[in-house]
Amino acid sequence: MTGIDLYGSVHKAQRARLFALVVAAGRTDPHDDAAAAQVAAVAAALAAELHEHGEHEDQFIHPLLARYAPELAASLAAEHRDLDGALAALTRAAARREPAGAESLHRVACRFTATYLAHLEREEGESMPALWAHATQDELAGVLVAFRSARTELENVTSLLGQLATLTPREAATMVAAAFDPATLYETRELLTGLLPAPQLAALHDSWPGARNG
Ligand SMILES: [Fe+2]
Repeated sequence: MTGIDLYGSVHKAQRARLFALVVAAGRTDPHDDAAAAQVAAVAAALAAELHEHGEHEDQFIHPLLARYAPELAASLAAEHRDLDGALAALTRAAARREPAGAESLHRVACRFTATYLAHLEREEGESMPALWAHATQDELAGVLVAFRSARTELENVTSLLGQLATLTPREAATMVAAAFDPATLYETRELLTGLLPAPQLAALHDSWPGARNG
């Protein structure tokens, strides 16, 4: 049985941002101080966010996973600890200004991305199927409710907006419909128009009162 996916949408956005970081770091001239500082700031912010994301999974997903697949939960928790070391290396690489002989931010970001992709594959390919096999839909929904309740409304909306452009049109429409009432959604139409690719935007149109006429 499948159902509520605890990983898919947020992981799509994380992959997109890691790939963008790798491309940006690869084309940035390390002697261009402004450009180097900009890509370093992006790397540091993403490293901090991914560390926090791992903590959220430890806190909200792993207790449920440990109930049904304790060895897998322990293994993924250990990977999170290892990833923290890799994230610290990424943060250090972002903080230094690439002195001669130092490994480039681009290479560190590539290595971290390779490690992180393998971790996401285990969560989506092992953890989520284990939860679908054993947990109830109410338990899975409870994880989402507990997570969202622990964050501010602004954090939840910011996270949602950051994911929309990386989702399929159907996924984007489903998530927006669950998060906003139609009137609020209509109020955000200009923001979403600037944020989303045309297919994703078209999938939301039916939720916009008057959008067909306006
Ligand atoms: Fe994780």
